[in-house]
Amino acid sequence: MTSANKPLEWDYTKLAATYTQRPPYAPRAVDRIVELAGRPAPRVADIGAGNAHLTVDLLARGCVVDAVEPNDAMREIGVERTRGGEVTWHVGIGEDTGLASAAYDIVTFGSSFATTDRPLALRETARILRPGGWFVCVWNHRDLEDPLQAEIEGLIRARIPDYGYGARREDQAPVIEESGLYGTPTVLREPVLHRVPVADWLAAWRSHGILERQAGEQFDAILADIDRHVEALGVDEIDVPYVTVGWIAAVRDAGERR
Ligand SMILES: C[S@@+](CC[C@H](N)C(=O)[O-])C[C@H]1O[C@@H](n2cnc3c(N)ncnc32)[C@H](O)[C@@H]1O
Repeated sequence: MTSANKPLEWDYTKLAATYTQRPPYAPRAVDRIVELAGRPAPRVADIGAGNAHLTVDLLARGCVVDAVEPNDAMREIGVERTRGGEVTWHVGIGEDTGLASAAYDIVTFGSSFATTDRPLALRETARILRPGGWFVCVWNHRDLEDPLQAEIEGLIRARIPDYGYGARREDQAPVIEESGLYGTPTVLREPVLHRVPVADWLAAWRSHGILERQAGEQFDAILADIDRHVEALGVDEIDVPYVTVGWIAAVRDAGERR
């Protein structure tokens, strides 16, 4: 179920239960995001906050957060995980957050920017940022050149030959620049190696929205292929290299917007 007025193009209801097993963002990447505000206790709007994956990291660094999430199942987990923190949860979408204008030091999209109509979300973000505030979008990219990850990509492509990651792995600079609302974006890249229990890592594949969408009825079969492949390694833990990749841009003053 979702509480948004119209059905979401990206529905995370079935993926919510296993989403929490996904790896955290690189700590240095979150440090750099929070430092953008240049002051303690920055006000952050975390959009598409989901199960609070990024929200918990922001709260741990002293941010005061408004978390916006349209999907009931994801938001319920997020609320639970952040109970007692300096966070207020809202039902909304990136294109229409319902948040106050000119109120936030930083607006973050943790793996959620590509679920939005990006030009509309950029416009809405410019509305809620205070003058000089920062737009940030980040993702965790698995290093697909790592040997095990390359094998897994092979298993996926054996069933979905034209499998792709869409906007999630695209350069976000053009859409940010075309909006005319922000200064030149800078790229954030912080590698992080996660040693993860095999059981958790296999469970996390069940929350993979991009794979689910492209696999359709083959989703369960692909998950079974990955399970078999990784379980055959006969280990309890594996090392999975990720890079937290993001784009950061300062909102332009109203008079300088194109
Ligand atoms: C990949 S999850 C990211 C969750 C979390 N922010 C993180 O860092 O892992 C994407 C989230 O975006 C939400 N979402 C879907 N459509 C959205 C929209 N139009 N605006 C904002 N969020 C949306 C989904 O419900 C889901 O919770």
